[in-house]
Amino acid sequence: MDELFDRRIIFVGGKGGVGKTTIAGALALMAGERGRSTLLVSTDPAHSLGDVFDIRVGNKETPLGPNLSGLEIDPEAEAERHIATVKMSMKSLVAPKMYGDIDRQLELARHSPGIMEAALLERMADLMADAKSRFDLLIFDTAPSGHTIRLLSLPEVLSAWSDGMLDRQDRSRRLGELLKVFGRDHSREDEFGMIGGSKEEPDDSRDGRIQEILLTRRRKFHRARALLTDPVVTAFLLVLTAERLPILESKKTLDLLGKFNVPVAGMIVNRLLPPNAEGDFLRERRIQEREYRDEIDRTFSGLRRIYLDLLPHDVHGVETLLKIGQAIMGQLGVDSGAVGAGVAEVS
Ligand SMILES: Nc1ncnc2c1ncn2[C@@H]1O[C@H](COP(=O)(O)OP(=O)(O)OP(=O)(O)O)[C@@H](O)[C@H]1O
Ligand SMILES: [Mg+2]
Repeated sequence: MDELFDRRIIFVGGKGGVGKTTIAGALALMAGERGRSTLLVSTDPAHSLGDVFDIRVGNKETPLGPNLSGLEIDPEAEAERHIATVKMSMKSLVAPKMYGDIDRQLELARHSPGIMEAALLERMADLMADAKSRFDLLIFDTAPSGHTIRLLSLPEVLSAWSDGMLDRQDRSRRLGELLKVFGRDHSREDEFGMIGGSKEEPDDSRDGRIQEILLTRRRKFHRARALLTDPVVTAFLLVLTAERLPILESKKTLDLLGKFNVPVAGMIVNRLLPPNAEGDFLRERRIQEREYRDEIDRTFSGLRRIYLDLLPHDVHGVETLLKIGQAIMGQLGVDSGAVGAGVAEVS
């Protein structure tokens, strides 16, 4: 994990409420302060970057600190954009008499399950592809684990799917598949009047364009997938608390990440009771916490672990984020002497 800041893409994941946004924000500030131009991206529809930084962020890059911008992807807006692009591509492939049909079908697609995820994933893939030329570091504050893993697995599915489609020689089947991905869930090609609906363009040329659209998508998802699994480029950071459910979920998440070959840099055990917390109630909590910490140390012994104390208050505003960031850096041994409040101990 020591080379965390040498990576170009960091994903921060973990169960709901364990401190992903807080830690992603703290790391992003640290990276910015160290002179790395950083974009912090929230992919969780229930955004809270803005709340943590006390700045309104939203669906456009917004300055959050030195060398640091934030962006909250809006899945609905992305889905709209996605549909508009698809509409344009499809209309370029059919006779104008079919435009009304395309519009109607895509209105339905707007409400189809998965469209937001597809659009969100596409935006993430675009950001990953573009980031290199615009930023030194891209940090994704992800939605709670399950959702993220599903999204992470999509490039695989989408690539496999478009690969298969491109291999197929049957033009109309290919088109049927194309329509499906664009939201039309049946294959009434004839009635639909695609290919062959317009006589102005030879089939070969239209075929070539369909192929090109598919290839472009395929290249994009393959590229995202390649970046995601490259340990020089990407690091997944798992956040958890010393409690039963976050431990269970972390195990599952690690298994899945392993299956998809996503490199895991380490884990951050957040919100540990500070040593000076007193009282019978807290003593009892501490006993339980000790057991879970031991379990974490045993279960995840192969992973680098960082421990952060529970602060006496919620985290918002740059000052507290910097403290958390310094606590992380201190444990990484990156910034000697800059260890702030909240450090428990180094594993
Ligand atoms: N070390 C800490 N000490 C005190 N409060 C903390 C600490 N870490 C996080 N918090 C608080 O815990 C709450 C949840 O944190 P955060 O929003 O970062 O979690 P999350 O994993 O992003 O949640 P979600 O899954 O809802 O996106 C927030 O109120 C935050 O201020
Ligand atoms: Mg969050």
